[in-house]
Amino acid sequence: MIFLFIFTLQIGIQSFVQAQCAINASATQSLAGATICLSSAIQLSTNNQPQAAQCIACPTGSGNIQRPSIAGDLSQCNICLANYQMTAIAQPATQMIPASAAQCQACPANSYSLLSVSPGYDCQCYDQYAIPLSDTQTQCICKNGYSGNVATSLGSLGCKQCAPGQFSSSGSVCVPCAAGSSINLDQGSCACNDSSTGTTIWSPDTNVCQCQAGYYGNATAAAPNSTGSCTSCPINTLSKAGSALKASQCTSISATFSLFIKYSIIYILIFIFN
Ligand SMILES: *[C@@H]1O[C@H](CO)[C@@H](O)[C@H](O)[C@H]1NC(C)=O
Ligand SMILES: *[C@@H]1O[C@H](CO)[C@@H](O)[C@H](O)[C@H]1NC(C)=O
Ligand SMILES: *[C@@H]1O[C@H](CO)[C@@H](O)[C@H](O)[C@H]1NC(C)=O
Ligand SMILES: *[C@@H]1O[C@H](CO)[C@@H](O)[C@H](O)[C@H]1NC(C)=O
Repeated sequence: MIFLFIFTLQIGIQSFVQAQCAINASATQSLAGATICLSSAIQLSTNNQPQAAQCIACPTGSGNIQRPSIAGDLSQCNICLANYQMTAIAQPATQMIPASAAQCQACPANSYSLLSVSPGYDCQCYDQYAIPLSDTQTQCICKNGYSGNVATSLGSLGCKQCAPGQFSSSGSVCVPCAAGSSINLDQGSCACNDSSTGTTIWSPDTNVCQCQAGYYGNATAAAPNSTGSCTSCPINTLSKAGSALKASQCTSISATFSLFIKYSIIYILIFIFN
C-alpha cells in the first residue's frame, strides 16, 4: 500500500515537472508544499492532502524569484522576468480591488534586461553607443555623433563614431560641418562661427552658414566667435538669403518692383490674347 502510494507520487511529480507547472497544473499532479513549480508560477491553493498545490503561470513577463511556499494570489507575481521592465508593482487584494501582478513591459527591440524588482527603465540597448532608454526614448537609436544601426545583440557592432568635424544625429550618415561652422561637443550638430545679427542659424537640414534675407556678406568666411559677417542691404535694396556677398548684389526694390510689373503685363497680355 505504502509502496503503491510512493510509486504514484513519483509518477505524479514526474508528469508535473514535464507539465512545467505552466498553466493551471491539475491538482492531481502536484503536492502540497512541493518545490517543483517553476519560478514563473504562482501557487493558488494548498490543502493537507498529498494532491494539493495548484499553480498557474504568472501574467506574461511577471514571475517570482522563488516559488511561493504558501497559497496566495496574483500579487505573488512580484518581479519582472529578464527582457521585461516593471511599470507597476504587484498589489495584494484590498476590499475594493482584486490582487494584481507586477505590470511588466517587454524591452524594446535591440535591448535587454535582467530581472526587475521595482519599476524603472531596466531595459538597456545592446549598443553602448545608443541613447539610453527613458520615458521619451522608447527605441534604441545611435546617440549624437554616431552613425548606423544599433547592435542587434550583446557584443555585436552597431553605431560607429563620426570622424572629427563631422556630425550625425539619430544614426544618420556622418556629414562634415559646413564652411564657416564648428562642430558641437557631442558631434550631433554644428554652429555657425558667426551667430551675430544677419546670419542664419545653422540647421541639420541645410548645413549652411549664410546671410539672412536682406543682408549681404560671406558668412562661410567667419572665424570662430566672430561677428559682423553680414551687413544690412543698402536702403531700398533687398536680397534673398545667402544670395548677396557684396552690397552691389542686393537688388533695388524699385528694380524688383518694375520687374514684377513687367512680368505682370506680359502675363496679362498672354492671358488676353489667348
Ligand atoms: C484550473 O483547474 C480547476 C480544476 O482543477 C478548474 O476548476 C479551473 O477552472 C481551472 N482554471 C483555469 C484558468 O483553467
Ligand atoms: C567666401 O569665403 C570663403 C572662405 O574664406 C571663400 O572660399 C570664398 O571664395 C568666399 N566667397 C566670395 C564670393 O568671396
Ligand atoms: C570655424 O570654426 C572652426 C572651429 O573653430 C574652424 O576649424 C574653422 O576654420 C572656422 N572657419 C573659418 C572660415 O574660419
Ligand atoms: C568661442 O567661444 C566659446 C564660448 O564663449 C569658447 O569656449 C571658445 O574657446 C571660443 N573659441 C575661440 C576659437 O575663441
